[in-house]
Amino acid sequence: MAQVRVAPPGSVRLAALPPLAAYVHLPWCVRKCPYCDFNSHERTGALPEGEYVDALVADLEALLPSVWGRRATSVFIGGGTPSLFAPASIERLLSALRARLPLEPDAEVTLEANPGTAEASRFAGYRAAGVNRLSLGVQSFDDRMLAALGRIHGADEARRALDMGLRQFDNVNVDLMYGLPGQTLAMAREDIAEAVRRGPSHVSAYQLTIEPNTVFYRKRPELPAHDACADMQLAIEEALGAAGYEHYETSAFARPGRRSRHNLNYWQFGDYLGLGAGAHGKLSFAERVTRHARARQPREYLEAALHGRRGSLVEEQTVAPRELPFEFMLNALRLVEGFPVELFAARTGLPLAAAETGLAEAERRGLIERDRRRIRPTERGRLFLNELLALFLPG
Ligand SMILES: C[S@@+](CC[C@H](N)C(=O)[O-])C[C@H]1O[C@@H](n2cnc3c(N)ncnc32)[C@H](O)[C@@H]1O
Ligand code: SF4
Repeated sequence: MAQVRVAPPGSVRLAALPPLAAYVHLPWCVRKCPYCDFNSHERTGALPEGEYVDALVADLEALLPSVWGRRATSVFIGGGTPSLFAPASIERLLSALRARLPLEPDAEVTLEANPGTAEASRFAGYRAAGVNRLSLGVQSFDDRMLAALGRIHGADEARRALDMGLRQFDNVNVDLMYGLPGQTLAMAREDIAEAVRRGPSHVSAYQLTIEPNTVFYRKRPELPAHDACADMQLAIEEALGAAGYEHYETSAFARPGRRSRHNLNYWQFGDYLGLGAGAHGKLSFAERVTRHARARQPREYLEAALHGRRGSLVEEQTVAPRELPFEFMLNALRLVEGFPVELFAARTGLPLAAAETGLAEAERRGLIERDRRRIRPTERGRLFLNELLALFLPG
């Protein structure tokens, strides 16, 4: 049953509503990777694609009264492995979405794909359905690393999928991981060099983290030392910088004009609808900022979305005003260029003074720098992001 908590009105006042995006979660994968703690479930048998799209549309319809009159600036179909869905299902999903929620004419529409599920005809189908940006989970171009990560594809498949993606889409992101079991600095350099040679418009480079509730957490692989990982990160930043990619967020690099609009909206504390199993969303109103979350297990989610009296929401709550400074900083301080000072009040509905204690301490410790216009993390702040963010935790 949905849990509803509402804060007293009046303590937050937004002058205008932020941009709106839509996140759509497709929760199935061919196999669960041993490091992954996303809401992804191993596929068993045929996927209930039709039923699932019906459930997504039901989620959307239930939220429409909360976003009446607004347009969406981006759609992100993530997972899981969305490329397990047939192009016809993605087409039905995007048509249903557009019919109910107007998209900006230049809306960014991203679909995540796994190289192990890539086919040229699928990619062409996604494009015809309205997807205009592909995000490919390559992880590495080294067979040994891909095996260590339990990926369903090898390096050649990753290369083929990327080349196919680049033929179909002019906006392609490649996900890479570093700090992998058995990886050396030279191997990490080679991965990034190969990505650069192939020329995607965007690269996301994540250091492998060991998350609770994963196979790697129970049976921890031996990872490169902390210093070696820091060297890899520096080498990746250098190689991408030299090749003309702008480093704009902790893990994100883009060619000029190709920053991910969808992810930027999260980092700028914009609004987004969360549709699908386990999806989270954030919606602002004149006097409150709210969050919503949905049932995680695909079966339970489908049942609730299609037949439940209250739909698939398991949680819907107003964010307490005292938590808003932390929530804002958690996102905005990931941005290398930080944020314009007025964005804080525009998105949280609170005066910047509400974050002043944290800002002053962060400045004193050399974790941020600021002038009248912008607040940005220093290099030290980016390196010690958790220490920086902790300064904004509600007391
Ligand atoms: C939800 S996955 C989507 C892509 C698709 N499911 C795939 O793996 O091919 C998003 C990305 O997060 C990264 N990722 C997932 N788990 C991670 C972990 N434990 N540490 C670092 N990066 C991780 C991977 O690069 C992955 O491609
Ligand atoms: S394919 Fe992606 S979402 Fe699926 S288990 Fe692996 S990392 Fe997680």
